[in-house]
Amino acid sequence: MDGLRIGYGEDAHALAPGRPLVIGAVTVAGSPLGTVAHSDGDVLLHALSDALLAACAMGDIGQYFPPSNPNYRGLDSRVILQTVLQRLADQVGEFSILNLSAVVILDQPRLGPTRRDIQRQVAGELGIDVSRVGVTFKTSEGMTPDFIQARATVLLRTE
Ligand code: C5P
Ligand code: MG
Repeated sequence: MDGLRIGYGEDAHALAPGRPLVIGAVTVAGSPLGTVAHSDGDVLLHALSDALLAACAMGDIGQYFPPSNPNYRGLDSRVILQTVLQRLADQVGEFSILNLSAVVILDQPRLGPTRRDIQRQVAGELGIDVSRVGVTFKTSEGMTPDFIQARATVLLRTE
């Protein structure tokens, strides 16, 4: 398999009080709501992991980490992402991530001040420069105040 490959992924979780809000491996300080999830509920890393798998037509993260498996309760989503990267390497051989573009849709809190931390964390997990990690934020205009969504696109080059 060689050439350029694009991948797209999405994720969504409900929000509830008294739970951590983890986005791109960053725990957002001072959020009144956090994700209701089987794992740590990191929608950005889940969307990104699905995008990477999709780029190589390798299914989605539910196949590798079934939500029904109690061993995955509270799972750190960085483990999901690293497992996906390893599976890709096993399947396609050497590949590089040219860039990624992700959107997080959340009403509160405002994430602008956290953008750089998220970019750094995600870039570190992927082993790429921060300049290749685009992260944008949108509100739902109040339509889904207790809901968080993420969408991610990746461009891969395979050898
Ligand atoms: O959704 P809306 O277009 O009103 O968002 C306006 C801006 O607010 C976004 O472009 C983004 O810069 C910022 N934003 C944010 N944190 C959010 C949602 C939006 O910083 N949770
Ligand atoms: Mg998820």
